[in-house]
Amino acid sequence: MIVTRLALPLCLLAAALPASARPDAPAPILTSAEARDVLTYARPEIARVTHVDLDLTADFAAKTFTGTAALDILAAPAAREIVLDAKDLAIDRVTDAAGKPLPWKLGAADAYKGAPLTVTIGAARRILVHYRTSPGASALQWLPPSLTAGKGKPYLFSQGQSINNRSWIPTQDSPGIRQTWSARIVVPEGLTAVMSGEKLTPRGEPAKGGRAFRFRMDRPVPPYLIALAIGDIAFRPLGPRTGVWSEPAMLDRAAAELADTEKMVATAEALYGPYRWGRYDVLVLPPSFPYGGMENPTLTFATPTFITGDKSNVSLIAHELAHSWSGNLVTNATWSDSWLNEGFTSYFENRIMERLYGPARARIEADLDWDGLLRDIKAAGGPAAPTTRLHGDPEATFGQLDYFKGSTFLRTIENMVGRARWDAYLRGYFDRHAFQPQTTAGFLRDLRANLIRGDKALEARLQLDRWAYQPGLPDNAFHSPSPALAAVDVKAKAFVAGGAASAVRPEGWSTQEWLRFLNALPRRMHAPRLAELDGAFGLSREANGYVRSAWLELAIANRYDPALASLEQFLTSVGRTLLVRPLYAGLKAQGEWGVPIARRIYARARSTYHPITAAAIDKLLG
Ligand code: BES
Ligand code: ZN
Repeated sequence: MIVTRLALPLCLLAAALPASARPDAPAPILTSAEARDVLTYARPEIARVTHVDLDLTADFAAKTFTGTAALDILAAPAAREIVLDAKDLAIDRVTDAAGKPLPWKLGAADAYKGAPLTVTIGAARRILVHYRTSPGASALQWLPPSLTAGKGKPYLFSQGQSINNRSWIPTQDSPGIRQTWSARIVVPEGLTAVMSGEKLTPRGEPAKGGRAFRFRMDRPVPPYLIALAIGDIAFRPLGPRTGVWSEPAMLDRAAAELADTEKMVATAEALYGPYRWGRYDVLVLPPSFPYGGMENPTLTFATPTFITGDKSNVSLIAHELAHSWSGNLVTNATWSDSWLNEGFTSYFENRIMERLYGPARARIEADLDWDGLLRDIKAAGGPAAPTTRLHGDPEATFGQLDYFKGSTFLRTIENMVGRARWDAYLRGYFDRHAFQPQTTAGFLRDLRANLIRGDKALEARLQLDRWAYQPGLPDNAFHSPSPALAAVDVKAKAFVAGGAASAVRPEGWSTQEWLRFLNALPRRMHAPRLAELDGAFGLSREANGYVRSAWLELAIANRYDPALASLEQFLTSVGRTLLVRPLYAGLKAQGEWGVPIARRIYARARSTYHPITAAAIDKLLG
């Protein structure tokens, strides 16, 4: 990795050395132009946060946290101020470590980025920000008991990625500014707090106003990976270093679905080196969790919708676990390079699935990703669309192209150089860049230095710059179709040609086979045929959220009124963006039929969604 040192004040030079050179030093900051994060107000080259220590009290009635964030700062002797990111925070005061007030000001707020919080630090290298969060904080969802499985107690969880943590932690909220952290969280009696780090007080300890839980993360992480959940939650071990947390009512089903987790960690290690985070636990959240999963270190956050009773969606766990290397160890320096997190992880996820469950299953999943790749490129406006670039404006990569195009890129390299050579390279890559930020250019540099090594013919065949910087799909893209899905295609064709639903015989189909089948059906079908399908397979009553959502999408495209009750029930009980957004989008596309339905249901559903899901649907429906 090349770290530009010229722009750094002298005292920061030590910090700019690779972490391996100074094990005790703060993780380096990249100062190259491509590593500049336009989504932060921070100016880390002048003063940067190295450690965050939180002391917060949760108030479920007010939907707020109140307390302090103590920040350790690394700054040049002449630095006068530090700039933090703050979103919807009520700042009470800022002091130095001795309690002496420091001048501070909040700049103009942007709806997405929040506001710069500038503190005049003088000689202080530890500051305390006293603050309160807003009930609308974009990272936080405060759930009333009615939205939990147990219905008895409230629940709170945070979602940091990409730039939401600044709505509950005043710090430098950029993935290139790694920070260690510690926390003390006070919660009402009877609730348990968990965080994405080491638990120092598993059962909590008595505190004024409830129970206090303390945590610590001593490896530097990008601040989007600081995560917290509070609720009536219990733990079940799955293996020596793995376990599952969920509401007690969910624990049996969750533990059964996650039975292979310990093996999964060992499988990942066998591929790309030691797991460096201690424990690997999974927290299964209420159904309003806005994503499938979130790779919070030591504690993956997961949607309950992945629990389908047949382990057919545990690739989600393989994915979040893989982020423990790609994303959490080697981190995109800015969100313009999110494919370095998501594309690498989708690739790694599939390798774990192959080793654990065999090539046939891995090929099914990779083939569906290929479908997604082609679908996304088409929806983006075709292969010339700028939003089909891997490296682009932050979060401007269309749909899930950072996942699908990114993993296809790596699969293409693997196929060209051979698996043994590629795996050795990738393992070295994770080691060389552990606990450091990375850019697209940095990855290509590393690849040329350590894999290609001047082989001109290989360089020409790979088309690296096309993959990384150009729109569309290079003509060397590797794809290996799945025979199992081809068999599903045959059944779908027969049905479309007029065959009976009873001839489909989907007994034993995995979620993936169902998705391929439903997505292969025409968006124009006659109502009796839809009724035949629904009657034969009970799709409107389907408990598998992936299958239910795909069925409802088909029903909406066909303006199939009999599925509306099922639609409304689904949209008011699940908040996973990936499953609900396509349904609202489908309704919107159906104009005078669909828009009023979308508005009516959303009016009921909105208050049950996490602010991130609500913002996505607000934007869609206008
Ligand atoms: N890190 C992502 C979730 C995320 C992405 C949060 C972008 C905020 C912005 C996570 O690892 C992820 O990719 N989740 C997927 C599941 C996966 C199996 C593809 C999801 O949520 O669907
Ligand atoms: Zn991911």
